[in-house]
Amino acid sequence: EEAERTARIEAALEELGDDVVILGHNYQRREIVEHADFVGDSYQLSKEAANADAEYVIFGGVTFMAESADIITDDDQTVILPSMEASCPMAGMAEALQVDAAWAEITDAASDDDIVPITYMNSYADLKAFCASHGGLVCTSSNAHKAFEYAFEKGDKVLFLPDKHLGENTAHRLGMADETVEWDPWDPDGKDAEEVVDNDIVLWNGYCQVHERFRTDHVKEVRETHPDAKVIVHPECRREVVEAADKAGSTATICETVENADPGDTWAIGTEIHLTNHLQRWHPEVNVVPLCGDACMDCNAMRQIDPNYLTWVLEELCAGRERNVIEVAPEEKEMAGLALERMLEI
Ligand code: 13P
Ligand code: SF4
Repeated sequence: EEAERTARIEAALEELGDDVVILGHNYQRREIVEHADFVGDSYQLSKEAANADAEYVIFGGVTFMAESADIITDDDQTVILPSMEASCPMAGMAEALQVDAAWAEITDAASDDDIVPITYMNSYADLKAFCASHGGLVCTSSNAHKAFEYAFEKGDKVLFLPDKHLGENTAHRLGMADETVEWDPWDPDGKDAEEVVDNDIVLWNGYCQVHERFRTDHVKEVRETHPDAKVIVHPECRREVVEAADKAGSTATICETVENADPGDTWAIGTEIHLTNHLQRWHPEVNVVPLCGDACMDCNAMRQIDPNYLTWVLEELCAGRERNVIEVAPEEKEMAGLALERMLEI
């Protein structure tokens, strides 16, 4: 069955030729990654999208990534997401409307201090536009520390959205953990805006439902079962998990760490399970171990990109029909693009 589907995908790609480029995030299934022209993390894929010449960019990833690709590509290029169900829950944890209401409170409380909003790439275009219009920018896990430095050159305080764990881990990296606070504006028992602005870094209360499931017990277990293993985790993991690990790094750093390992080294990987499985396949000389053991660290948003849907969007293009086009509203495109450009420049 897979062989037949692969043959159909290859036939469609041959017919479409240079009109199509497929970008695949590292968390995509093997059957998607195998057909991708470029495989990478969200930062690398945004750069590939910016350089792509093809008329159609097929995005193996989630909605916010496809939106960013639409913003970054030229107006005559079309971005297609094989499934419209592939939406990252974390991106939905900071809706622009909510943030707008919270922003009014926090800027009021901060009075003369300038707050710069930074949003993680894992957010929708309207929030990216919001950040740019208030002097802020986008970052990914590979450049969050640089985005914070940029923001502190422009203003006095940072509001970081939506991922509290990446925010906290970045604050530690910059030696600012003591000046950092979590804020949930709708928690009746939580801190109010007046209290949070005593800190230089305010973290929105979002998180990745995959990376948040890692626990220090997983690190303990792997050290018992694989005493030679070194442990690397993604900075979307909880602070205590990052502290228990030997190294924390973005998706690109995790890939490079395994690529540069000596044959026979053992690396336990704390990230989405498909990437761990790809690394096992790509680097058989290294012992790559999933940190979670039998627990399932599978991203159900990424999983929505089924290879059957990839077949469908490609065959539809061959028939002259554009399906699942991702188009950012023109009124958001310019400012969201500015937020992304600021990231690409830092
Ligand atoms: P990166 O690709 O920036 O490492 O992001 C990880 C992630 O969770 C993507 O959804
Ligand atoms: Fe969103 Fe986490 Fe899935 Fe990435 S891994 S798409 S952050 S839920």
